Amino acid sequence: MKPRKIKDNIYWMGYIDWDARLFDQLIPLPDGTSYNAYLVEGSEKTVLIDTVEPEFFGELEEQLENVTQLDYLVSLHAEQDHSGSIPKVLSKYPDAKLITTPKAKEILMDLLAISADSIITVVDGETLSLGDKTLEFIYTPWVHWPETMVAYLQEEKILFSCDLFGSHIATSDLFAVDEARVYEASKRYFSEVMMPFAKIIEKHLEKLTPYDIDIVAPSHGPIHRNPSFIINAHKDWVAGPLKNVVILPYVSMHHSTKKMVDYLASMLTEKGVRVELFNLSVTDIGKLAIALVDAATIVVGTPTVLYGPHPAVAYCTFLANMLRPRAQYLSIIGSYGWGGKTVETLAGMIPNLNVEIIDPVFAKGFPSEQDFQALDVLAEAIASKHQEQGFV
Ligand code: FEO
Repeated sequence: MKPRKIKDNIYWMGYIDWDARLFDQLIPLPDGTSYNAYLVEGSEKTVLIDTVEPEFFGELEEQLENVTQLDYLVSLHAEQDHSGSIPKVLSKYPDAKLITTPKAKEILMDLLAISADSIITVVDGETLSLGDKTLEFIYTPWVHWPETMVAYLQEEKILFSCDLFGSHIATSDLFAVDEARVYEASKRYFSEVMMPFAKIIEKHLEKLTPYDIDIVAPSHGPIHRNPSFIINAHKDWVAGPLKNVVILPYVSMHHSTKKMVDYLASMLTEKGVRVELFNLSVTDIGKLAIALVDAATIVVGTPTVLYGPHPAVAYCTFLANMLRPRAQYLSIIGSYGWGGKTVETLAGMIPNLNVEIIDPVFAKGFPSEQDFQALDVLAEAIASKHQEQGFV
């Protein structure tokens, strides 16, 4: 892909990775992704903002073919999908200075063995003149690493936001045109890496409010010419009202747990509560993460394997504890053959979740009439709590 013009003297560069299917050996990428870098040519200085995964440096190098002088390279975030090609860019332009935060300097030196002499650190709010253009650096730590910042091109009102406001989508659209698609991909990305820092990101969104932004240029996915769409979506995800939704991640081995999950889902639906079921044997974990962003209640369904929860359920519970969703209620349903400590084990795995536990329902063998009655009670308890809280 050749460089693509965003505005006069401002270009998208990078690599569109149509083949990527897994990030960090963990996160599914059903739509691939892109690694966006941006070239800004001022009347006096030229700057490249971020780079690409090192294996795709060749593409970036071709895009830089006509750039004879690079004065600055900005690293907004030290993770290797954006920083990995910094050493190669600095080799190509030995006079270029690398601009980053003090924390990122430390990380970049550790990760990429970049020499301290090449690096200039900036403080929060510092500006860099490129002649007729000015870049302002704004600290936004913990998106999702501690060193992150964004850069605002004052004259053109462009916010280079790196991971923030990004989406894992491979597309030939330079700008977001299919907002429904971008919304889901961006919510997925937010849920997978930023949700644990929602309160911090809420403060960053407040910090960015005074800035007059025409364009948001993230480092993954398409660029936003309608910034309020993506900024307001993030405001909703970090602090918007929870929804009248119960998510039911579950595994069933011999249909007992499945029978209970289906029954509870049916009872909740009758009571006007929306449900989303995720069979963990087959689900895309990213879909579950999206649902965790604003569901009011989580009900985990698991059989007992040996003496504890099914390992797939334990994995999902571990992930949910890491992602720290804002859900207010949690319960556990499932089955056992002769004993075990399934409920205690799962309950002990969620110290990060600020949830009220609603009485679990565990059946010995196939669920009995008594177990279904207990599920009725559970459904009623959830529906009442949602109603009291005014979740819609
Ligand atoms: Fe796209 Fe946190 O790297």
